[in-house]
Amino acid sequence: MTTQTLNFSIRGAEPSEMRACRMLLPETFGPSNAPEALVSFSRCGELAGAATIGWQAVGDPAAFLVAVHVVPAYRKQGLGRALVDAAAVLVKGEVSFLQPWKALREDSETAAFCLRSGFTVHHRILHFLGEAEKMEAMLATYREKLDRSGYIPDGARVVKLPDAPAAEVANLVGREFHNNPERMQARLEGRVGKPPDPQRSVVLLLDGLVVGAQLVSIAADGIPEVEGNVVIPSLRRGWANLLLTHEGTRTGVLHGSRQFRFFCDDRVIDTVNLARRSGAERTATDVVLRRAAG
Ligand SMILES: CC(C)(COP(=O)(O)OP(=O)(O)OC[C@H]1O[C@@H](n2cnc3c(N)ncnc32)[C@H](O)[C@@H]1OP(=O)(O)O)[C@@H](O)C(=O)NCCC(=O)NCCS
Repeated sequence: MTTQTLNFSIRGAEPSEMRACRMLLPETFGPSNAPEALVSFSRCGELAGAATIGWQAVGDPAAFLVAVHVVPAYRKQGLGRALVDAAAVLVKGEVSFLQPWKALREDSETAAFCLRSGFTVHHRILHFLGEAEKMEAMLATYREKLDRSGYIPDGARVVKLPDAPAAEVANLVGREFHNNPERMQARLEGRVGKPPDPQRSVVLLLDGLVVGAQLVSIAADGIPEVEGNVVIPSLRRGWANLLLTHEGTRTGVLHGSRQFRFFCDDRVIDTVNLARRSGAERTATDVVLRRAAG
C-alpha cells in the first residue's frame, strides 16, 4: 500500500531498498534481525525518509519498536509524523502499541518530536549517581531489621556472578529486559562483548535456583554502573530485592567502589524512595513512550 501526503509517498521498502534504510537507521539493524521498513520519496523521486519497525513485541502490554529518520532537506514538512502514522497502521492487528526504539532523554528533540506525533509517556527511567558507602550504610539498617524478621528463607543465598549458572541468569535478565538470552549468556561467559564485572555482580539463589541478579559493569570513566537489577515477579515487594541490593552494594564497597550509577523505573516506588533517602543525585530522566496502533 502506498500513502501519498502533500509532498511525499510512503510505502513498504523493497529488498533492494533495505540497504538505504540501514544507512538511515543503523541502530535498528542487528546481525541476526532485520526490521520491517517503510520508505518515503519526494515528488522528484528522491529518498526523503524511512521508518523501521521491530517485529518483536516488548513490554506489557506488548508494543513493537519503531524508529523514523527524515533526510535533513525534507524535515519540518510533516513527513516524520506521516511515517509514524504509516507505521501505526502497518502494525494494527499484530500488536496494540508502538514504542520508540529506545528510551529517550526527556528533554531531547527526539522526545519532543514523538510527543507531537501521537506518543504519550508510558513511564520514566530515572538515572542516579549514588555514594556507595552511604547507600550501603542505609541499606544495612534495613537489612538488620530484615534479618531479625525471619522473612529470609533458609534456602536464600547471594553468590558472585561467576558462581551462578550463566544460562539461568541469562534467562532471568533476558526475560525482564527483552534481551536475547543466548546473547546474554554468551556475554556472561565472556564470548561476546564486555562481560559484567565478576567481582561486583551478584546473583540471588533460592534453594539453588536463580531468582534474582544485580549485574554491574564498569563505565569508561571507571565508575561502576548497575546495568540491571532483577527479581522474579513472585518475590517482588519483599525481602528478595533488599537482600540482593544490599549484598550487591556491600560487595561493591568491599571492592573499592566509591560512587556508582544506577537507574530505576519511576513506577518502582521502593527503589525511587531508597535513592531519595540515600541522597543519590538524579543525573538524567528518560521517557518510554507509547502510541496506539492504527
Ligand atoms: C525527528 C525527525 C524524524 C522529525 O522529522 P520531521 O519530518 O521534521 O517531523 P515533522 O515535520 O513530521 O514534525 C512533527 C511534529 O514534531 C515537531 N518536531 C519535529 N522535529 C522536532 C524537533 N527537532 N524538536 C522539536 N519538535 C520537533 C514538529 O514541529 C511537528 O509538530 P507540530 O506540527 O505540532 O508543530 C527528524 O528530525 C529526524 O530524522 N531526526 C534524526 C533522527 C531522529 O531523531 N529520529 C527520531 C527517532 S524515532
